[in-house]
Amino acid sequence: MKNLAIWGGRPLSGKVYCDGAKNAALPVLAGALLMDKSTILEVPDLADVRTMVALLRAIGANVRRSQGEISVSSPGSLICEAPYDLVRKMRASFLVMGPLLVRCGKASIPLPGGCAIGQRPVDLHLKGFEAMGAHIAIDKGFVHASAPNLRGAQIYLDIPSVGATENIMMAACLAIGETIIDNAAQEPEVVDLANFLNSAGARINGAGTSRIRITGVKRLLGTTYTIIPDRIEAATYLIAGAITLGNVCVGNIIPLHLKPVLAKLQECGFSIIEGNKSVEINAPFRAQPVNIKTLPYPGFPTDVQAPFVSLCSLGQGTSIISETVFENRFAHAEELRRMGAKIRIEGANAVIEGVPNLTGATVQASDLRAGAALCLAALAAQGVSYVTGLEHVERGYAGFAAKLRSLGARIAVFDEAIEQASGFTARG
Ligand code: UD1
Repeated sequence: MKNLAIWGGRPLSGKVYCDGAKNAALPVLAGALLMDKSTILEVPDLADVRTMVALLRAIGANVRRSQGEISVSSPGSLICEAPYDLVRKMRASFLVMGPLLVRCGKASIPLPGGCAIGQRPVDLHLKGFEAMGAHIAIDKGFVHASAPNLRGAQIYLDIPSVGATENIMMAACLAIGETIIDNAAQEPEVVDLANFLNSAGARINGAGTSRIRITGVKRLLGTTYTIIPDRIEAATYLIAGAITLGNVCVGNIIPLHLKPVLAKLQECGFSIIEGNKSVEINAPFRAQPVNIKTLPYPGFPTDVQAPFVSLCSLGQGTSIISETVFENRFAHAEELRRMGAKIRIEGANAVIEGVPNLTGATVQASDLRAGAALCLAALAAQGVSYVTGLEHVERGYAGFAAKLRSLGARIAVFDEAIEQASGFTARG
């Protein structure tokens, strides 16, 4: 298991650049199964991307990777069953279901795993496929779907689920006739997937609004496509600047995608300077209290909730952050309390009484964004913190320690297995 040691209390300053968005790269890689050949640029080097590449290979696609570029060619005959070992690692693996179903006429995918943040069912994905004529059966932890001819349908999503919108949209590209998805997710990553598919000849309209219309085509051609920058990564580094009372500029981003986060950072009293492809934050004093409710885009992103809880823990008053997208997404609160944070969880609300200082401690990252939040708190805390479970953070942040180090953080990665074997321990 890899862990981080962070010596806190150093204001961060300088500029970091964002990688391509994980949450765009994963569905786009799944979407590559719909076309003969595609080349995807700016793909981040992340554990989740490696899992998706392994999954594509396991179902018969040829994948070549060199640095940020991935080429996928999908032969006519794909294997329509996804291996449990890969799918259990990452919920986004379920996104291969739509492409497999429409290309092979059937697909068998294990029920997915992923972050420990609530139940996260896939019922909306399945309802969509059923409306398109698929027969669905769940047996021994596998979802078996079959549909010799998937047909367009009118689908209303009870919740604007990102994954369900993407999965149904992909299947609809090659289905017969028109599909309309109402109450669709409007996230920039959904738009990115639609742009990728359209660049290969798909006919998708309305992505980025709550109604997406897809007219099925017979075949998708090849394409070369560049992934959008990661807005969640960007938000994390901006908060790193804010929580350490520093001055950080984040480059290679689309500021528009960060609007809800920037609005809250401004409400905290920080100065925000938006450039064309960058945002700079200047934090001369601790955050003013704010109230936040996570919502589907264009609302405040649930993936930035945990980092913001860390920021408000060192704020100047009492903030309330409500989590409405996922249940059970406050695992970081308990760990932050070990560092001296005053956080009460009341149902879906975190009531955070800001304190002037946090103290370094050993804390456990239980999921990706909770892990990032703990690292942010550690960067600002007095003394040294050990954040265990770095593998969770590495699912979503490429070069995390190196980027923070370039901003002046004192941070070391250590591997417990190697330490134990060598008899040396970084925890002193
Ligand atoms: C995606 C993102 C994740 C982000 C989330 C919400 C990727 C790879 N992951 O996850 O980082 O936190 O969007 O912005 O893009 N739901 C159902 N039934 C379903 C599907 C979802 O009830 O069939 C519920 C979920 O339990 C959750 C809510 O809908 O409460 C939103 O989930 P969804 O938008 O589907 O998230 P993901 O696509 O899994």
